[in-house]
Amino acid sequence: MMSVVRAVVIHEFGGRDKLRLEDVSEPKLFPDAVRIRIRAAGVNPVDCKTREGRQEPRFPHVFPVVLGWDAAGVVEEVGPATRWFKPGDEVYAYCRKHFVGEGTYTEQVVVPDGFVARLPRNLNFAEAAAVPLAALTAYQCLVEQLQIKPGETVLVHAAAGGVGHFAVQIARELGAKPIGTASPRNHDFLRELGCIDAIDYHEGDFPGVDAAIDPIGGETLEKTLSVAGRTVSIVQPGDTHGYHFVRPSGAELSVLTGWIEDGRVRVHLDDTFPLDEAAAAHERLEEGHVRGKIALTVSE
Ligand SMILES: NC(=O)c1ccc[n+]([C@@H]2O[C@H](COP(=O)([O-])OP(=O)(O)OC[C@H]3O[C@@H](n4cnc5c(N)ncnc54)[C@H](OP(=O)(O)O)[C@@H]3O)[C@@H](O)[C@H]2O)c1
Repeated sequence: MMSVVRAVVIHEFGGRDKLRLEDVSEPKLFPDAVRIRIRAAGVNPVDCKTREGRQEPRFPHVFPVVLGWDAAGVVEEVGPATRWFKPGDEVYAYCRKHFVGEGTYTEQVVVPDGFVARLPRNLNFAEAAAVPLAALTAYQCLVEQLQIKPGETVLVHAAAGGVGHFAVQIARELGAKPIGTASPRNHDFLRELGCIDAIDYHEGDFPGVDAAIDPIGGETLEKTLSVAGRTVSIVQPGDTHGYHFVRPSGAELSVLTGWIEDGRVRVHLDDTFPLDEAAAAHERLEEGHVRGKIALTVSE
């Protein structure tokens, strides 16, 4: 008999009122996969976009769609072709698959073992769940796309946000000099993360820099292209700059695990919400001013 798990799902695209807490069939294991018993799920802006149907052109969707791409928990079962994990291991992962439907706002997720990394020893499950998608985005943009070199200046927009606060710390770890944009209330936070300068984005002008990461688009991107030697956007493709869509990678997440355990990168968890308050978590994120990250707690 198929077991069921509690999950936050949508049956159709729309606003926060479309979120439902329901029982769904547990996801099926496959040979290369691990089954993770989820203790906490990260919440990302893309979850709100998925809820609204804005990912429809990019992925097949299987309804009811369980939202969420970030998870931290305990390995419950492994497939016969897996290599690195065993039941009982504490792990985290960016769990995006080739379709949207079996997400992480639930009690279990099944993902290829290549997506998974060991949980940093110094993080609890909610903190760890807040890391994978945002930190991998920052890492891949800075290392692969921009190929940041020591001594370079890097403009990080939305530096107090999920991707931005990791990008500042990773840029510093790569030996670069990050400059962040945020509201004035976040400027001390940006300097604590390692920014050599903090800029109020309401004021307008940006300094000349070697490279820039853009999670905003539009006018911000236009102005950035006129001051940065090379730019990668994570919201707006175009001919004048790079564009990146984050890939799951257990290997890269393991690098981040090491940096987190060494205290070189930290996660700022702004707030947590229980699973059945996913709508409140989306509301908080959609206001646009979360500092660092938020997460859903799924089980004790
Ligand atoms: N392509 C990809 O693979 C990928 C991956 C991850 C994220 N994304 C996208 O990137 C965007 C950012 O994601 P996120 O998780 O970092 O978002 P987030 O955490 O929700 O961002 C919130 C932060 O944005 C800041 N902010 C708002 N408007 C700003 C502006 N005009 N200029 C500078 N900062 C501003 C706020 O700072 P203040 O409170 O100081 O205003 C707040 O700290 C989202 O659209 C997301 O979907 C794409």
